[in-house]
Amino acid sequence: MTELIIEVQNLKKYFEQIINDQNIQTKAVNNISFNVNKGEIFGLLGPNGAGKTTTIKLLLGLLEPNDGNIRVFGLNPEREDIKIKEEIGYVAEEPLIFRSLTPKDLFNFISSIRKLDPLKTEKKVKEYLESLDAIQYYEQIIDTLSHGNKQKIQIISAIIHNPKLLIFDEPLAGLDAKSVKVLKEILDLHKENGGAVLFSTHIMKIAEELCDRIGIINKGKIVGIGTIEELRKQSNKIGASLEDVFLRLTEQDKSVMEIIKKLRASFNNK
Ligand SMILES: Nc1ncnc2c1ncn2[C@@H]1O[C@H](COP(=O)(O)OP(=O)(O)OP(=O)(O)O)[C@@H](O)[C@H]1O
Ligand SMILES: [Mg+2]
Repeated sequence: MTELIIEVQNLKKYFEQIINDQNIQTKAVNNISFNVNKGEIFGLLGPNGAGKTTTIKLLLGLLEPNDGNIRVFGLNPEREDIKIKEEIGYVAEEPLIFRSLTPKDLFNFISSIRKLDPLKTEKKVKEYLESLDAIQYYEQIIDTLSHGNKQKIQIISAIIHNPKLLIFDEPLAGLDAKSVKVLKEILDLHKENGGAVLFSTHIMKIAEELCDRIGIINKGKIVGIGTIEELRKQSNKIGASLEDVFLRLTEQDKSVMEIIKKLRASFNNK
């Protein structure tokens, strides 16, 4: 029997802003429903501003929904966010890590607040750092590291407590090819051990390789959901690449062709 890790039903989140004395409402998440099962890697894909990060923040209890239901491990993130966070490893879109610490200090800190065994955790952290080619930064201030290396530290911080659910918002942005390969292996191992993963990405190849199911969001709505084969059927694009399926479902395929045509015309007229 499938065990539901994440259940989202008719979720809505609106933002209000005053711009030029006018109250402008953005329907960032506009009636979204999806589930993520135990042992599953679920990808959230969507153009910039589609509502991926907002959905993720709602799952973590970092934002309150306007309407709809969310359950993570059967719990409501609005009321039981602390319990949920104990079992989640979260990599945020914008780094939250304490930049003035070294990775060593950061991991010691996380180990103490999560009540982990310090020696075992140190061993594990060092293994991860080595596998991601970052062991040489163990005692270097995080702020002085490159973007990709900061990202590796953030990813390791999210997985050292063996969480049941990984929620990664654009985890692979800025990682080199070898690290992407290692991280894909880490996600697969997590899944094989009965964990679940929800991650957002713009990299179609990664989604194609890693995800068991994909939810495509556009303008706050789910416009396609399922395995890649199911998405192909939903978009009437049998045999197409995920990129083509994505562009069709998000209704960007025609405008992309127009843009390319215009760019070519103006380039040739120079
Ligand atoms: N705090 C906020 N106040 C007002 N509007 C917001 C806020 N946060 C997000 N939005 C708006 O909600 C919409 C969805 O944003 P969100 O960050 O969820 O998109 P996304 O799919 O993660 O995009 P990206 O791929 O660029 O990361 C956007 O129109 C964004 O401008
Ligand atoms: Mg985002």
